[in-house]
Amino acid sequence: MARIVLGVTGGIAAYKACELLRRLTETSHEVTVVPTRAALEFVGEATWAALSGRPVAAEVFSDVDQVAHVRLGQQAELVVVAPATADALARAAHGLAPDMLGNVLLTARCPIVFAPAMHSEMWSNPATVGNVELLRQRGALVVEPASGRLTGADSGPGRMPEAAELFTLAEAVLAGGVPARDLSGRRVLVTAGGTREFLDPVRFLGNRSSGLQGYALAAAAVIRGADVTLISANPTLPPPAGATVVPVVSAEDMLREVSVARDLDAIVMAAAVADYRPARNADAKLKKESGPLTEIGLVENPDILAGLVAARRGANSPVIVGFAAETGDPDGDYLSYGRRKLARKGCDLLVVNQVGHGVAFEVDRNAAVILTAGGHDVEVPLVSKRRLADAVWDAVIASGALK
Ligand code: CTP
Repeated sequence: MARIVLGVTGGIAAYKACELLRRLTETSHEVTVVPTRAALEFVGEATWAALSGRPVAAEVFSDVDQVAHVRLGQQAELVVVAPATADALARAAHGLAPDMLGNVLLTARCPIVFAPAMHSEMWSNPATVGNVELLRQRGALVVEPASGRLTGADSGPGRMPEAAELFTLAEAVLAGGVPARDLSGRRVLVTAGGTREFLDPVRFLGNRSSGLQGYALAAAAVIRGADVTLISANPTLPPPAGATVVPVVSAEDMLREVSVARDLDAIVMAAAVADYRPARNADAKLKKESGPLTEIGLVENPDILAGLVAARRGANSPVIVGFAAETGDPDGDYLSYGRRKLARKGCDLLVVNQVGHGVAFEVDRNAAVILTAGGHDVEVPLVSKRRLADAVWDAVIASGALK
């Protein structure tokens, strides 16, 4: 349980902050909402009070005897400003305090997260770019906005990230502080989800991968400053803000998209790629009357990871990370299989997790051992997939293999 201030500024995305607030309060955090006057034009005080279960701190001149304009900031363990308009970022960057939120931001000594939401032109305007840079230099976490439909008919970068993503981020910051931008200037590629290998237009061979771990890796890399491409096979998850998402269906689609990526510093193959596909993908639905479907001829899919390793050329090559879900059997435990796989695949790092009957898929927690080619293995206990993602990026950096 933490004391959080949720600053809300005047943008239409204020309605999304209601969902963020609900998630924060449901996890027992004590959240005080500090809306600007413009924010109250979008969502009224009654909504914030009802959802937070606390008085709303909108005005500097109410409860003056409590010195709320100083106390709120001083006591906060996290301040999240969502949505943060271009104007709000400008005021924060220049230390203006015309209202309660300005006062909170100046008195806070805790991590501060801004979730910008504005039109693309405002986001890319040099004034905003400079303000964001200034806030980041001072240690604030300004998240990248998502791309997509904005208010009205236009679309582009500027959407506030979804509440679920901001909630995960808030929890990560509470647990570990504002992450460093140690992947700034790096181009990384992450694959996620599970491929589908079609038999006919309605049937496919697939797997249980939810894509959560790959999405967490992409989101963590964006926060750490990387330029992120996420090749995503079939998950039903909201796109992580700030990443370029390339949807694919099958292993062959994924190979095609991975092959066209250029100038990469790191590639993380978190996707569950089907090893085999049906030899034939019928154009029309296969019917029972046309004969029993008891035998599906399978052909082997390309091993994308092995291909990436084989294509490496000297010191300019990207760091390559594989994933392996292993059960272990009487011939060896899951880790010994992982070590053999690392040697066989030849990648720099292999993230091995133990799976089996009764071990949950589609959950937000994961435990793993990150095996390194140099033998410096990192054991990560059961943590959120977001924290495991950070551990993987830490290991990529620590490997010293980034060019
Ligand atoms: N992978 C890949 N292309 C494939 C299969 C797997 O790039 N056709 C990648 C996965 O994304 C993962 C790693 O290889 O990062 C290990 O996947 P896994 O299925 O465990 O490897 P396999 O070689 O298929 O081993 P196994 O026999 O245990 O299935």
